[in-house]
Amino acid sequence: MLTERFQRALGKAFGDEYADADPVIRPSQFADFQANAALALAKKLGEKPRDVAERIVEHLDLDGVAEAPEISGPGFVNVRLTSAWIAAELTGLDDRLGVPTQDRQVIPVDYSAPNVAKEMHVGHLRTTVVGDALVRTLEHLGHDVVRQNHVGDWGTPFGMLIEHLLAVGEDSPEAQLLVTDPNTFYGAAREEFDGDPAFADRARTRVVALQAGDPDTLRLWDELVDLSKQYFNRIYATLGVTLTDADLAGESTYNAELAQICDELEAAGLATMSDGALCVFLDGYTGREGKPVPLIIRKSDGGYGYATTDLATIRHRVRDLRSDRILYVIGAPQALHLNMVWDTARKVGWLPDDVEVVHVQIGNVLGADRKILRTRAGNPLKLMDLLEEAIARAREVVDEARPDLDPGVRAAIAPQVGIGAVKYADLAVAHDSEYVFDLDRMVSLTGNTGPYLQYAAARIRSIFRTAAISPDGATTPITLTEPAERALALALLEFGDVVVHVGDRLEPHRLCGYLFDLAQHFSAFYEQCPVLKADSEVRASRLALCAVTLAVLDQGLDLLGIARPEQM
Ligand code: ARG
Repeated sequence: MLTERFQRALGKAFGDEYADADPVIRPSQFADFQANAALALAKKLGEKPRDVAERIVEHLDLDGVAEAPEISGPGFVNVRLTSAWIAAELTGLDDRLGVPTQDRQVIPVDYSAPNVAKEMHVGHLRTTVVGDALVRTLEHLGHDVVRQNHVGDWGTPFGMLIEHLLAVGEDSPEAQLLVTDPNTFYGAAREEFDGDPAFADRARTRVVALQAGDPDTLRLWDELVDLSKQYFNRIYATLGVTLTDADLAGESTYNAELAQICDELEAAGLATMSDGALCVFLDGYTGREGKPVPLIIRKSDGGYGYATTDLATIRHRVRDLRSDRILYVIGAPQALHLNMVWDTARKVGWLPDDVEVVHVQIGNVLGADRKILRTRAGNPLKLMDLLEEAIARAREVVDEARPDLDPGVRAAIAPQVGIGAVKYADLAVAHDSEYVFDLDRMVSLTGNTGPYLQYAAARIRSIFRTAAISPDGATTPITLTEPAERALALALLEFGDVVVHVGDRLEPHRLCGYLFDLAQHFSAFYEQCPVLKADSEVRASRLALCAVTLAVLDQGLDLLGIARPEQM
């Protein structure tokens, strides 16, 4: 809201070419906001920064918005908004809560992408949680988001997996392991493959039959994928993420296109044969001793791999989905792979310059030993066990905090808190940095945690329960007199900018940080300003302030995909 006013002043003071300069406005401890426009401009104009600041202030129209701006330091412009203006803005918010609706873009988001017949690991958990928060936020900003769950459902291990499924029987308890404990199923298949040459032969023949589209083999493959889907969906339901079967766009969906992908790259002169494999060599990708690193698009045995299917994802998302912006929410170590795929796609013309692709890099989740999180015995973690443990811990926290609640109510709150805790921990740190998985910290009711925010919202709900009115009814015009009221109000007005930032920069942790600050502002307000005991006019205004705070917390948690317990 201040940016445009500053830009208008810049235009008037220095000419139209400065009317879209960035005035760099930040919240400040010396005022509400500090603009840092004069310094860079002074250099350009060859004038003194303070003189430039004075000319900006001369043309700055803040009538009814702020007190007279002050110039400080080398040429900062300090702005203190009037409480009346803040109050009016807050009272005037509609249910968008200051979040704009942006020009609609088509944005496919590639996230989650677990592998058939394999346990999801904490890396999959994090791309699922971060991807889902981005999807929710972009949709709320008005975009046409296409969820793309690029599951690993194709490749050589499927011969072995299908033969194992046949061996144990499709309706056997062993087959059900695919739904409950996929790694055990996979391990048993692998053991048979390694220990029984006849089985290994059958498995190899089976891969050929699968690739040739043999109907019986395809039916068995379908069965395998279907059982795995049940496993994925159990995890998704427990996590409360928005992915459904309709969002599955696995590797196998691109099978029919892979030969053509290779042909086109060859025809364009981009792919060449090297040691029997068809490869793309790109400038700038060299390994040890300067040896060029190839992007292998057809292996020497004629099979296609991960790179070829990812080239197909790009082509599909640009040509068929008509994307404006494409997000790949994938582990950080895959950066090289993605860059090579994108460079190739740009060269051959499948990825035009005006379509933006972004790798939303997902950092590792570590154990207390700072190595990739595993069980104490050193085995890969079962994700469902981890989630169940989080729910059990949350139950302890809820039992201790609210022994007065009915056990049935506590049992219903525990999954919301436990899953909220795990998701928030994934979201609250920058998505590309590593963090140590620490359940005790995650489920804590204090600090920058999911449960702390859930508790803050539940506390406001309980104020309304005590007052016996609904938050929707608390619409009295707000007046701000106490500093804590004013600070809370100012924080509430920033919500829209924060959500825009998350959509532009793809940083859900910014929203987490904002909500944490907001909850702290609310705590300070609630300590310093009685609500229910205040006189009727003040009471109504403060209840209205509580209602906006609750709405912003609720909306913020929704965008992150975190449940909101009624009471806590
Ligand atoms: N299935 C892969 C894995 O588990 C992730 C796929 C990510 N998406 C993609 N388009 N490459 O590592």
